[in-house]
Amino acid sequence: MSERRPLIAGNWKMFKTHLEATSLVQALGYKLPAREGVEVAICPPFTALRSAQLVKDTDNVHIELGAQDMYWEDEGAFTGQVSPTMLKSLGCKYVIIGHSERRQLFAETNETVNKKISSAMSHGLVPIFCCGETLEQREAGQMKDWLVSQVKSGLAGIEIDNGSQIVVAYEPIWAIGTGMTATPQDANDSCRVVRETLADLYGAELAESIRILYGGSVKPDNSIQLMIEPQIDGALVGGASLKADDFLRICNYKSAGM
Ligand code: PGA
Repeated sequence: MSERRPLIAGNWKMFKTHLEATSLVQALGYKLPAREGVEVAICPPFTALRSAQLVKDTDNVHIELGAQDMYWEDEGAFTGQVSPTMLKSLGCKYVIIGHSERRQLFAETNETVNKKISSAMSHGLVPIFCCGETLEQREAGQMKDWLVSQVKSGLAGIEIDNGSQIVVAYEPIWAIGTGMTATPQDANDSCRVVRETLADLYGAELAESIRILYGGSVKPDNSIQLMIEPQIDGALVGGASLKADDFLRICNYKSAGM
């Protein structure tokens, strides 16, 4: 039996104004009981974090807040950037780092990912560190080497002494927003590669305590099959996190027959 507490995190991407965010968090709050079992987080755009925080605090919604990215400096002349200190002051617990859309569209590299992870951790934010291969890499049999090198570069020089300091999200790029999901078995195998890499870096015991999420077209209908896999400790959910009912069904996967 795994002692890792499952985490379902919604990545809203560039969707929802601050007003729409207010309604969505309210809708989630009505139906999200306090829970021991599954931890739930949402990662709205920066512009909606304050609204989400206000609803969360006012209505006592049992949800954690996260951001979708951050810069590694505390403050300064960095037009357009948002700092870890700013996210902390908005009550964020999590920050997604190195999402494949940022790597592919916004020139994120392993080096910048590494700096962001390090900075997030030093501010007490928990990075949700994303990794994953392209379809070409998978078909060429390069998935394993790619994942190992992505995880090792992202974590180069970073000390972890407690498994709750970081979350890793395995997100095969070909499954993101495409409706194609890795089979539960494939997703589990890849998460195992990530865990073995973490064990190489930090020892088996610590690696066993780090949560590894699967992401890529997670929907209410496939979440149970994915979540019962032993190496998968939760989900990073994009599209299906934008509708309260869908997201709630994923968050409540345990009551749907596990
Ligand atoms: P998706 O996105 O669920 O829409 O595929 C997942 C993600 O990008 O984190």
